[in-house]
Amino acid sequence: MNFERKQFPLLYVNQHSRGIVGWGASKVAGQECQRYGIRHALLVTTGLKGTGIIDEVEGVLKCAGIAVTVFAGVTSNPKCEEVAAGTRLYLEAGCDGVVSVGGGSSHDAGKAIRIMLTNQGAKTVLRDFMAVLEPHFTTRIPTYKAVQIPHVAINTTTGTGADCTSFAIINDEELKYKLILIVPGVDPSVGINDPAFMRCQPAHLLAWTGIDALCHAMEPFIGRLNLPVSHATSLRAIKLLSENLRQGYANPRNDAAIENLLWAQFLASMSYNMGGGMGMVHGLAHMVSVLKDLHHGYANALMLLPVERFNAIACPERFKEIGEAMGLDVRYLTPVQATDKTLDEIARLLRDVGIPPVSLQDFEFSEADIDHTARWASNDISLEANPRDMSLEQIKTIMRSCL
Ligand SMILES: [Fe+2]
Repeated sequence: MNFERKQFPLLYVNQHSRGIVGWGASKVAGQECQRYGIRHALLVTTGLKGTGIIDEVEGVLKCAGIAVTVFAGVTSNPKCEEVAAGTRLYLEAGCDGVVSVGGGSSHDAGKAIRIMLTNQGAKTVLRDFMAVLEPHFTTRIPTYKAVQIPHVAINTTTGTGADCTSFAIINDEELKYKLILIVPGVDPSVGINDPAFMRCQPAHLLAWTGIDALCHAMEPFIGRLNLPVSHATSLRAIKLLSENLRQGYANPRNDAAIENLLWAQFLASMSYNMGGGMGMVHGLAHMVSVLKDLHHGYANALMLLPVERFNAIACPERFKEIGEAMGLDVRYLTPVQATDKTLDEIARLLRDVGIPPVSLQDFEFSEADIDHTARWASNDISLEANPRDMSLEQIKTIMRSCL
């Protein structure tokens, strides 16, 4: 036998958090806290004002005998200072676990609070845990303490996936960079997806988070890590999104559309979290949202076509499959022709859900911002899985095309 054959990179198939899905799933949040030994929860949220969701979850937890301290100091694009404030409150109140309620911002803040508690409390410098290419993040992970603080994540959007994934993304306002924090054990103990909460999303948020989910499905599918597990989940997620996002946007109380979008976001999060990786739509969107405080999903929507038009020559056969999953008739087209059709269909979907093309100049994105974006994005781990090499100058060209 010849055991000398090797491949690079090796594919790592990661675990995904436990999930509970379905109407009324939020009612078991108290039981889930008991299961993981949480007696006093720090409820981490952006507030979700006007929905009644926080009062509802507090009631469910208290019914199960769980004490609750609410930390509603998280904003969209959660920041290091907010995480430090949540960590201080956790310690002052004597909490023993986290319950995050909301979209990706709340879950990521909850994960980052747990990283701080595992290290030097509120004095922890989150920057010390950021994953970049140079020095390569995998060389540092074995030196980190594993997070063991329990976390119940209750999702209220149909687009994040952060309720079940192994990363936290936090704004470092000083660096003007989104820290990607990959620490063992940071994935929540359980993610709860209840469509009853997702019906409360405003239409524009449903559209933004839905396009985020589309990127979560597409980027691993076309990416160079080429993980077969992701192929399956991505294609189903793309199909569900293209068949339901318009209807959900038109009427967020369309229960069938909400259920399908819930599963789309769940499948899409599996695609990247289980090892498919992310690409430079996310890499560049992170820079846009950290510089201009734009919503993560909206920033992805702005970067989706410019980046994928650049990437297309690396994998036209994959874009053809995406077109098929979106219901396009591409049977008699070459992969290159099918790619054009697929990208046109994505442009149509974006317009239909209220995201027409806009110039980054509308957000006062400057030449200095382009330089900053190129410098940081060229060391971003999203570059590793992107299907096409992207130099610093090419990043600048893509960003200038968005002005
Ligand atoms: Fe995302």
